[in-house]
Amino acid sequence: MDSFVEKMAVVTGGGTGMGRELVRQLVASGCHVATCDINLDAMEETSEIALAGTQFDVRLTTHLCDVSDEADVLAFRDQLQARHHVEHLDLVFNNAGIGGGGSFVTDEDRMAWEKTFDVCWYGVYYGSRVFLPMLMRSPKSHLVNTSSINGFWATVGPRTPHTAYCAAKFAVKGFTEALNIDLRLHAPHVMAHVVMPGHIGTDIGRNSIDAHGGPDLKQIRKNLAERGVRDDQISDEELNDLVIAQGRRFRDEAPTTASEAAAIILDAVRQENWRILVGEDAVFIDESVRGNPEFAYEPEFLKRINDQGHLGFFRRGT
Ligand SMILES: NC(=O)c1ccc[n+]([C@@H]2O[C@H](COP(=O)([O-])OP(=O)(O)OC[C@H]3O[C@@H](n4cnc5c(N)ncnc54)[C@H](O)[C@@H]3O)[C@@H](O)[C@H]2O)c1
Repeated sequence: MDSFVEKMAVVTGGGTGMGRELVRQLVASGCHVATCDINLDAMEETSEIALAGTQFDVRLTTHLCDVSDEADVLAFRDQLQARHHVEHLDLVFNNAGIGGGGSFVTDEDRMAWEKTFDVCWYGVYYGSRVFLPMLMRSPKSHLVNTSSINGFWATVGPRTPHTAYCAAKFAVKGFTEALNIDLRLHAPHVMAHVVMPGHIGTDIGRNSIDAHGGPDLKQIRKNLAERGVRDDQISDEELNDLVIAQGRRFRDEAPTTASEAAAIILDAVRQENWRILVGEDAVFIDESVRGNPEFAYEPEFLKRINDQGHLGFFRRGT
């Protein structure tokens, strides 16, 4: 696909971060876009920014939709068909995702585990299931599913369990790779891409906390106690501020911006690369895990990654 002019795209999670940047860059390239999110205000901001930055006469619509709810995704499809007067799609970016649900063993909050898994896995699954027939109606189309480096490396460090997110992101990667064989056999004009970003500067930390209804202070205190940190001097308010500050640091210390990440993803789609590693950190970690998988969960492994100048944010207390 050389050009996005007059193409029709869906972007999930277009309110902020990489989703917003995908919307902005697609619209700037002359692509019509229907985007969905759980955050209406954020989507309106995306819309204003995107429309101000294009010279093309494009349609950009925003839709309130929880991607982990199949009925919502079906309603999103019906709305976009009516508002864009289309039966086909050229591009679908299943991008929406949240973090959370760290420990499977000790977390008392099973809801948080399942919510994280549902958004990250079922969001992609429903997005693929609902929109594939529309992609198949185009002469050439692309399904772009966002996994993560956590889709092939199930950790953010040896001291931080990360089970729900990793399980979902491995599922997205496995499903999308398997889908490519299925598509080659049954719909060779549709290509599936798996996106595996490294550390990207977004507000995913803050947004994930909001999606879970606020920080789980009880669990955070438990985690601190496990690490021998005495938290009895820290008030709930201070702990809350620390969590927000950590989310901000995650955004500000990232080596790759959301804008750079979206540009990498869109270039890879144009060039028909199905395996999209985003950022030098992702490339290095992919090589390292494949080179020595047995060693991937040893503390020394993260240290080697840090020594190469990657994932500095995850060095502290992980
Ligand atoms: N930022 C990173 O370092 C990083 C690394 C690897 C993978 N990812 C993945 O990239 C994708 C985009 O993340 P981001 O970093 O831009 O985060 P972000 O929080 O900035 O953007 C995610 C968007 O998805 C929306 N969203 C959340 N739950 C939703 C739901 N149930 N239905 C619809 N929309 C929902 C949020 O409101 C937000 O606008 C996610 O799938 C994430 O897991 C991010």
